[in-house]
Amino acid sequence: MPDPADAQADLIAILDFHTEAGVDVALDEKPHDRFTEADAPEPAPRPRRSAPRQATPQAIPVAPPPSPPPPRATYGRAASAEPEAAAGDARAQARAAASLQELEAILAGFESCPLRFTAKNLVFGDGNPQARVMFLGEAPGADEDRIGKPFMGRSGQLLDKMMAAIGLDRTSAYIANVVPWRPPGNRNPTPQEVAMCRPFVERQIELVDPDLIVCLGAPATQTLTGTKDGILKTRGRFFTYALPSRETRLLATLHPAFLLRQPLQKRLAWRDFRALRAALDGKA
Ligand code: URA
Repeated sequence: MPDPADAQADLIAILDFHTEAGVDVALDEKPHDRFTEADAPEPAPRPRRSAPRQATPQAIPVAPPPSPPPPRATYGRAASAEPEAAAGDARAQARAAASLQELEAILAGFESCPLRFTAKNLVFGDGNPQARVMFLGEAPGADEDRIGKPFMGRSGQLLDKMMAAIGLDRTSAYIANVVPWRPPGNRNPTPQEVAMCRPFVERQIELVDPDLIVCLGAPATQTLTGTKDGILKTRGRFFTYALPSRETRLLATLHPAFLLRQPLQKRLAWRDFRALRAALDGKA
Protein backbone atom coordinates (compact mmCIF):
# COMPACT_ATOMS: atom_id res chain seq x y z
CA MET A 1 0.00 0.00 0.00
CA PRO A 2 1.60 3.31 -1.02
CA ASP A 3 2.33 5.79 1.70
CA PRO A 4 -0.53 8.40 1.58
CA ALA A 5 2.04 11.20 1.95
CA ASP A 6 3.91 9.89 -1.13
CA ALA A 7 0.65 9.55 -3.07
CA GLN A 8 -0.27 13.14 -2.18
CA ALA A 9 3.19 14.39 -3.19
CA ASP A 10 2.82 12.54 -6.52
CA LEU A 11 -0.57 14.14 -7.13
CA ILE A 12 0.79 17.61 -6.35
CA ALA A 13 3.74 16.97 -8.69
CA ILE A 14 1.34 15.94 -11.49
CA LEU A 15 -0.79 19.05 -10.94
CA ASP A 16 2.36 21.24 -10.94
CA PHE A 17 3.42 19.60 -14.19
CA HIS A 18 0.10 20.42 -15.81
CA THR A 19 0.09 23.97 -14.48
CA GLU A 20 3.61 24.54 -15.83
CA ALA A 21 2.44 23.18 -19.18
CA GLY A 22 -0.38 25.73 -19.19
CA VAL A 23 -3.21 23.35 -18.31
CA ASP A 24 -4.71 25.29 -15.45
CA VAL A 25 -8.40 25.48 -16.24
CA ALA A 26 -10.74 22.55 -15.69
CA LEU A 27 -13.32 22.46 -18.47
CA ASP A 28 -15.07 19.27 -17.45
CA GLU A 29 -15.13 16.94 -14.50
CA LYS A 30 -14.19 13.95 -16.64
CA PRO A 31 -10.98 13.78 -18.67
CA HIS A 32 -11.41 13.33 -22.44
CA ASP A 33 -8.82 11.64 -24.62
CA ARG A 34 -9.25 13.74 -27.76
CA PHE A 35 -6.61 11.70 -29.60
CA THR A 36 -8.61 8.47 -29.38
CA GLU A 37 -11.79 10.40 -30.13
CA ALA A 38 -10.18 11.70 -33.31
CA ASP A 39 -9.14 8.16 -34.32
CA ALA A 40 -12.51 6.59 -33.59
CA PRO A 41 -14.54 5.70 -36.71
CA GLU A 42 -17.42 8.00 -37.57
CA PRO A 43 -20.63 6.65 -36.05
CA ALA A 44 -22.83 4.93 -38.64
CA PRO A 45 -25.74 7.12 -39.74
CA ARG A 46 -28.89 6.27 -37.86
CA PRO A 47 -31.50 4.51 -39.97
CA ARG A 48 -34.22 6.95 -40.94
CA ARG A 49 -37.55 6.20 -39.53
CA SER A 50 -40.63 7.69 -40.97
CA ALA A 51 -42.75 9.34 -38.33
CA PRO A 52 -45.83 7.35 -37.48
CA ARG A 53 -48.90 8.96 -38.93
CA GLN A 54 -50.92 8.08 -35.91
CA ALA A 55 -49.73 7.14 -32.52
CA THR A 56 -50.89 3.63 -31.69
CA PRO A 57 -50.12 1.52 -28.64
CA GLN A 58 -47.79 -0.62 -30.82
CA ALA A 59 -45.91 2.30 -32.31
CA ILE A 60 -42.16 2.19 -31.80
CA PRO A 61 -41.41 4.87 -29.26
CA VAL A 62 -39.89 7.89 -30.91
CA ALA A 63 -36.60 8.95 -29.40
CA PRO A 64 -36.89 12.18 -27.47
CA PRO A 65 -35.58 15.17 -29.35
CA PRO A 66 -31.88 15.74 -28.72
CA SER A 67 -31.25 18.00 -25.79
CA PRO A 68 -30.10 21.48 -26.75
CA PRO A 69 -26.33 21.95 -26.88
CA PRO A 70 -24.75 23.09 -23.61
CA PRO A 71 -24.44 26.86 -23.35
CA ARG A 72 -21.18 28.10 -24.83
CA ALA A 73 -18.87 30.22 -22.74
CA THR A 74 -19.84 33.81 -23.31
CA TYR A 75 -17.55 36.72 -22.93
CA GLY A 76 -20.05 39.44 -22.22
CA ARG A 77 -20.04 42.19 -24.79
CA ALA A 78 -16.77 40.81 -26.19
CA ALA A 79 -18.67 37.98 -27.79
CA SER A 80 -20.19 40.47 -30.18
CA ALA A 81 -17.86 43.46 -29.95
CA GLU A 82 -15.69 43.85 -33.03
CA PRO A 83 -12.07 44.27 -31.98
CA GLU A 84 -11.80 47.67 -33.72
CA ALA A 85 -14.97 48.87 -32.03
CA ALA A 86 -13.64 47.59 -28.71
CA ALA A 87 -10.34 49.43 -29.24
CA GLY A 88 -12.27 52.63 -30.06
CA ASP A 89 -14.40 52.16 -26.96
CA ALA A 90 -11.21 51.61 -24.91
CA ARG A 91 -9.70 54.84 -26.26
CA ALA A 92 -12.79 56.86 -25.34
CA GLN A 93 -13.03 55.32 -21.87
CA ALA A 94 -9.30 55.62 -21.13
CA ARG A 95 -9.28 59.29 -22.13
CA ALA A 96 -12.04 59.97 -19.60
CA ALA A 97 -9.90 58.85 -16.65
CA ALA A 98 -8.55 61.82 -14.70
CA SER A 99 -6.54 59.75 -12.21
CA LEU A 100 -5.03 56.28 -11.85
CA GLN A 101 -7.85 55.34 -9.46
CA GLU A 102 -10.42 56.34 -12.07
CA LEU A 103 -8.54 54.46 -14.76
CA GLU A 104 -8.43 51.31 -12.64
CA ALA A 105 -12.17 51.59 -11.94
CA ILE A 106 -12.91 52.08 -15.65
CA LEU A 107 -10.76 49.06 -16.54
CA ALA A 108 -12.51 47.00 -13.88
CA GLY A 109 -15.80 47.69 -15.66
CA PHE A 110 -14.45 47.30 -19.23
CA GLU A 111 -16.17 44.24 -20.66
CA SER A 112 -14.96 44.26 -24.24
CA CYS A 113 -11.73 42.36 -23.62
CA PRO A 114 -12.41 38.62 -23.34
CA LEU A 115 -9.37 38.12 -21.10
CA ARG A 116 -11.18 39.68 -18.16
CA PHE A 117 -13.64 36.77 -18.14
CA THR A 118 -10.97 34.10 -17.77
CA ALA A 119 -8.71 36.00 -15.37
CA LYS A 120 -9.21 35.89 -11.62
CA ASN A 121 -8.14 39.49 -11.02
CA LEU A 122 -7.40 42.74 -12.78
CA VAL A 123 -3.64 43.35 -12.43
CA PHE A 124 -3.44 47.11 -12.70
CA GLY A 125 -0.15 48.31 -11.23
CA ASP A 126 2.14 48.30 -8.24
CA GLY A 127 4.71 50.58 -6.72
CA ASN A 128 4.91 54.33 -6.46
CA PRO A 129 2.75 56.23 -8.99
CA GLN A 130 4.92 59.32 -8.36
CA ALA A 131 8.09 57.45 -9.31
CA ARG A 132 10.39 58.75 -12.04
CA VAL A 133 10.70 55.31 -13.58
CA MET A 134 7.97 52.99 -14.81
CA PHE A 135 8.60 49.31 -15.72
CA LEU A 136 6.28 47.63 -18.18
CA GLY A 137 5.88 43.92 -18.80
CA GLU A 138 3.64 42.09 -21.23
CA ALA A 139 0.85 40.43 -19.23
CA PRO A 140 0.35 38.87 -15.80
CA GLY A 141 1.07 35.21 -15.11
CA ALA A 142 -0.58 32.84 -12.65
CA ASP A 143 0.94 34.38 -9.49
CA GLU A 144 0.05 37.91 -10.53
CA ASP A 145 -3.47 36.82 -11.47
CA ARG A 146 -3.93 35.22 -8.05
CA ILE A 147 -2.50 38.17 -6.10
CA GLY A 148 -3.72 41.01 -8.35
CA LYS A 149 -0.33 42.75 -8.64
CA PRO A 150 2.28 42.70 -11.42
CA PHE A 151 5.55 40.81 -11.22
CA MET A 152 4.89 38.71 -8.12
CA GLY A 153 6.27 35.33 -9.25
CA ARG A 154 9.79 34.23 -10.11
CA SER A 155 10.17 36.91 -12.79
CA GLY A 156 9.06 39.49 -10.25
CA GLN A 157 11.58 38.31 -7.70
CA LEU A 158 14.33 38.67 -10.29
CA LEU A 159 13.02 42.10 -11.30
CA ASP A 160 13.12 43.17 -7.65
CA LYS A 161 16.77 42.05 -7.44
CA MET A 162 17.68 43.84 -10.66
CA MET A 163 16.03 47.03 -9.41
CA ALA A 164 17.77 46.70 -6.03
CA ALA A 165 21.12 46.45 -7.83
CA ILE A 166 20.66 50.04 -9.04
CA GLY A 167 19.05 51.35 -5.86
CA LEU A 168 15.39 51.02 -6.91
CA ASP A 169 12.50 49.21 -5.30
CA ARG A 170 8.70 49.34 -5.41
CA THR A 171 8.69 52.57 -3.42
CA SER A 172 10.80 54.31 -6.06
CA ALA A 173 9.45 52.65 -9.20
CA TYR A 174 6.02 51.96 -10.68
CA ILE A 175 5.28 48.63 -12.40
CA ALA A 176 2.50 47.64 -14.82
CA ASN A 177 1.82 45.50 -17.87
CA VAL A 178 0.60 46.23 -21.39
CA VAL A 179 -2.26 43.78 -20.83
CA PRO A 180 -3.76 43.86 -17.31
CA TRP A 181 -5.44 40.43 -17.36
CA ARG A 182 -3.74 37.05 -17.51
CA PRO A 183 -4.23 35.26 -20.83
CA PRO A 184 -5.47 31.72 -20.08
CA GLY A 185 -2.68 29.18 -19.77
CA ASN A 186 -0.13 32.02 -20.14
CA ARG A 187 -0.62 32.10 -23.90
CA ASN A 188 0.48 35.25 -25.69
CA PRO A 189 -2.19 37.94 -25.85
CA THR A 190 -3.62 38.23 -29.37
CA PRO A 191 -2.97 41.42 -31.39
CA GLN A 192 -6.66 42.28 -30.92
CA GLU A 193 -6.40 41.92 -27.15
CA VAL A 194 -3.29 44.09 -27.12
CA ALA A 195 -5.05 46.70 -29.29
CA MET A 196 -7.96 46.81 -26.83
CA CYS A 197 -5.70 47.21 -23.80
CA ARG A 198 -3.23 49.61 -25.33
CA PRO A 199 -5.25 52.83 -24.82
CA PHE A 200 -5.44 52.00 -21.11
CA VAL A 201 -1.72 51.44 -20.66
CA GLU A 202 -0.99 54.59 -22.67
CA ARG A 203 -3.28 56.57 -20.36
CA GLN A 204 -1.65 54.87 -17.35
CA ILE A 205 1.75 56.08 -18.59
CA GLU A 206 0.37 59.61 -19.09
CA LEU A 207 -1.02 59.66 -15.56
CA VAL A 208 2.22 58.37 -14.00
CA ASP A 209 4.18 60.78 -16.22
CA PRO A 210 7.55 59.06 -15.70
CA ASP A 211 10.94 60.44 -16.76
CA LEU A 212 11.86 56.94 -17.94
CA ILE A 213 9.82 54.01 -19.17
CA VAL A 214 11.56 50.63 -19.14
CA CYS A 215 10.02 48.04 -21.45
CA LEU A 216 10.73 44.50 -20.32
CA GLY A 217 10.89 42.29 -23.39
CA ALA A 218 9.80 42.52 -27.01
CA PRO A 219 6.00 42.68 -26.66
CA ALA A 220 6.04 45.77 -24.42
CA THR A 221 8.76 47.40 -26.54
CA GLN A 222 6.99 46.70 -29.81
CA THR A 223 3.61 47.85 -28.49
CA LEU A 224 4.89 51.17 -27.21
CA THR A 225 7.47 52.06 -29.87
CA GLY A 226 5.95 50.46 -32.95
CA THR A 227 9.25 48.76 -33.79
CA LYS A 228 9.12 45.28 -35.30
CA ASP A 229 12.69 44.51 -34.23
CA GLY A 230 13.36 41.73 -31.75
CA ILE A 231 14.51 42.49 -28.23
CA LEU A 232 18.10 41.35 -28.80
CA LYS A 233 18.32 44.14 -31.37
CA THR A 234 16.45 46.83 -29.42
CA ARG A 235 17.70 46.16 -25.89
CA GLY A 236 19.90 48.88 -24.50
CA ARG A 237 18.39 51.43 -26.89
CA PHE A 238 16.69 54.61 -25.67
CA PHE A 239 13.61 55.61 -27.67
CA THR A 240 11.62 58.83 -27.45
CA TYR A 241 8.08 58.43 -26.15
CA ALA A 242 5.62 61.28 -26.59
CA LEU A 243 3.54 62.24 -23.57
CA PRO A 244 0.77 64.83 -24.07
CA SER A 245 2.86 67.69 -22.69
CA ARG A 246 6.43 66.54 -23.24
CA GLU A 247 8.69 63.84 -24.55
CA THR A 248 10.05 61.19 -22.26
CA ARG A 249 12.57 58.37 -22.73
CA LEU A 250 11.92 54.70 -23.12
CA LEU A 251 14.58 52.04 -22.59
CA ALA A 252 14.14 48.53 -23.99
CA THR A 253 15.65 45.65 -22.05
CA LEU A 254 15.35 41.90 -21.57
CA HIS A 255 12.39 40.40 -19.75
CA PRO A 256 13.27 38.70 -16.42
CA ALA A 257 11.48 35.53 -17.59
CA PHE A 258 13.92 35.37 -20.51
CA LEU A 259 16.83 35.87 -18.08
CA LEU A 260 15.57 32.99 -15.94
CA ARG A 261 15.75 30.77 -19.02
CA GLN A 262 19.03 32.22 -20.28
CA PRO A 263 21.01 33.35 -17.23
CA LEU A 264 24.10 34.13 -19.33
CA GLN A 265 22.19 37.06 -20.84
CA LYS A 266 22.03 38.74 -17.44
CA ARG A 267 25.25 40.53 -18.32
CA LEU A 268 23.37 42.36 -21.12
CA ALA A 269 20.54 43.26 -18.75
CA TRP A 270 23.09 44.50 -16.23
CA ARG A 271 24.50 46.80 -18.90
CA ASP A 272 20.99 48.15 -19.56
CA PHE A 273 20.26 48.66 -15.89
CA ARG A 274 23.52 50.60 -15.46
CA ALA A 275 22.47 52.78 -18.39
CA LEU A 276 19.12 53.26 -16.68
CA ARG A 277 20.83 54.33 -13.45
CA ALA A 278 23.04 56.76 -15.37
CA ALA A 279 19.98 58.20 -17.16
CA LEU A 280 18.14 58.65 -13.85
CA ASP A 281 21.23 60.38 -12.44
CA GLY A 282 21.31 62.70 -15.44
CA LYS A 283 24.58 61.21 -16.65
CA ALA A 284 23.38 59.74 -19.93
N1 URA B 1 5.54 38.70 -16.76
C1 URA B 1 5.04 39.89 -17.14
O1 URA B 1 5.27 40.36 -18.26
N2 URA B 1 4.31 40.55 -16.26
C2 URA B 1 4.05 40.10 -15.02
O2 URA B 1 3.36 40.80 -14.26
C3 URA B 1 4.57 38.87 -14.65
C4 URA B 1 5.31 38.17 -15.54
